[in-house]
Amino acid sequence: MSNFGSMQNAIYNAGLQGILPDYPVDFATLEQRAHEALGPMMTNYVAGGCGDEHTQDVNASAFHHWGMIPRMMVDCSERDLSIELFGMDLPTPLFMAPIGLNGEATQDRHGDMAAARASAETGVPFSVSTLSNDPLEDVFGACGNTPAFFQLYTPRNRELAQSLISRAEQSGAKAIMVTLDTWLTGWRPRDLNASNFPQLRGKVLQNYFSDPVFRSLLEKSPEGDPKAAIMLFAAIFGQVLTWEDMAWFKDATDLPIVLKGICHPEDVRKAIDHGADAIYCSNHGGRQANGGIATIDLLADVFAAAGDVPVLFDSGVRSGTDAVKALAMGARAVGVGRPYTYGLAIGGAAGAAWVLRSILAEADLLMAVNGYPDLTALREAGVQRTD
Ligand code: FNR
Repeated sequence: MSNFGSMQNAIYNAGLQGILPDYPVDFATLEQRAHEALGPMMTNYVAGGCGDEHTQDVNASAFHHWGMIPRMMVDCSERDLSIELFGMDLPTPLFMAPIGLNGEATQDRHGDMAAARASAETGVPFSVSTLSNDPLEDVFGACGNTPAFFQLYTPRNRELAQSLISRAEQSGAKAIMVTLDTWLTGWRPRDLNASNFPQLRGKVLQNYFSDPVFRSLLEKSPEGDPKAAIMLFAAIFGQVLTWEDMAWFKDATDLPIVLKGICHPEDVRKAIDHGADAIYCSNHGGRQANGGIATIDLLADVFAAAGDVPVLFDSGVRSGTDAVKALAMGARAVGVGRPYTYGLAIGGAAGAAWVLRSILAEADLLMAVNGYPDLTALREAGVQRTD
């Protein structure tokens, strides 16, 4: 049984001693403070999205046209927010979405390590991105007893892809998340206007630079000739994937394969037919394609098509209320993205842990007030469109 809501009592009690919280509990204040900490270039990269950012904006605003009806006279003095995923019992229904710029989000530029420590502290699993300022072995090592996943940007070089997967396996990854929507970068006006693409400046490439296969493709080491290493990264970053490639992934690892970026029910069925172990419904937070539909509006159909196969979800989750709505619609686990990276920016591991705990506390208290003692009751109650 969880009591994430007790964070509220701790905050009010500290207030009686004259102590205010170090970090905000609402997204708007968090975002504002994080933008100040990140500065303009990084803010553009983290906050920005594709085109006029309509998809990104509706990802978050669309949660408002879903609502829940509370049930009364139910004993909710204890809540159970635990889930089962890939054979593991997890204490929370959240996970940290892969964010390839975490490394740059903290002042010491080791934000991936800070994110891993936040995961260790909170029990919320971390999805370790291919793009990272610290090698994945170190990042997995910092996750403590909390299970973690590896997110793969599939490189064009299959040996390198295999090497990254094997390194993740050896580091204890519990699943491989293959991101499908990013074999190239979407049109991001904020970054284009500032002519800024961090990877081309050598940032967040440590998983490549530390990889024996990647290094073997270079004449000089990445330390000796960083420019050549960056150019090699740019040349081999993105493999276009088709359903035929699933056989290769199934061969490459025994770990569960999660396909990230699936939004269409037909793709859900194809993914399952080709052996996917979980569906990850996401539009990359609106960073890759504009002109889309909020993922929360697509989740019910994705869930229906997935049957018993678990559905992970992200894009637009800003609060515990959002997370509860996604869980009510059938998500097995809900991914927190930008909010925890903003937590890293304002407070490192402690800031990210605070953000995750706030989301859990709000979710827990909402379930208590609304009469849902556990996720089964929540799912039965469901959500309704309010417009
Ligand atoms: C991302 N996302 C992402 N996804 C992925 O598969 N690998 C990655 O390395 C990254 N990197 C990344 C960097 C930044 C700065 C952002 C904001 C996002 C997408 C991420 O996993 C998730 O899908 C979105 O963040 C969800 O949208 P919201 O809720 O953050 O708006």
